[in-house]
Amino acid sequence: MKTFKIFGVVAVVIGILTALTLESCSAEQVAAYKNKSGAQLWGENCIRCHTTPSPAAYNDTDWDTIGLHMQVRANLTKKQAKKIFDFIKSAN
Ligand code: HEC
Repeated sequence: MKTFKIFGVVAVVIGILTALTLESCSAEQVAAYKNKSGAQLWGENCIRCHTTPSPAAYNDTDWDTIGLHMQVRANLTKKQAKKIFDFIKSAN
């Protein structure tokens, strides 16, 4: 009987440690995601549906319009879209 109790305690401790590890891991991932640069977000999001058009392919006014359009298509937050299109406009 005593052995079973110890197993129970060990299982609970492992469970708590796993929960804590997962918790801190996801918090870090959220932070890493929030800190992504426009260039990173561009590389990760804009190739999901088509090849990324070169920043030089459009002027700033066009990119503003495309930004609104692709923010909806790519399901980006306003902040992410601003980062991406600020980056693109800095590179054209
Ligand atoms: C969910 C799929 C999807 C994602 C993700 C996506 N696009 Fe698009 N994109 C499209 C489709 C579809 C079109 C064709 C026009 C239309 O029907 O909306 C398009 C067209 C374009 C065009 C041509 C101009 C226009 O507005 O039609 C540009 C430039 C463009 N995308 C840039 C981007 C950039 C930059 C990103 C990253 C922020 C991006 N796309 C992410 C689906 C996507």
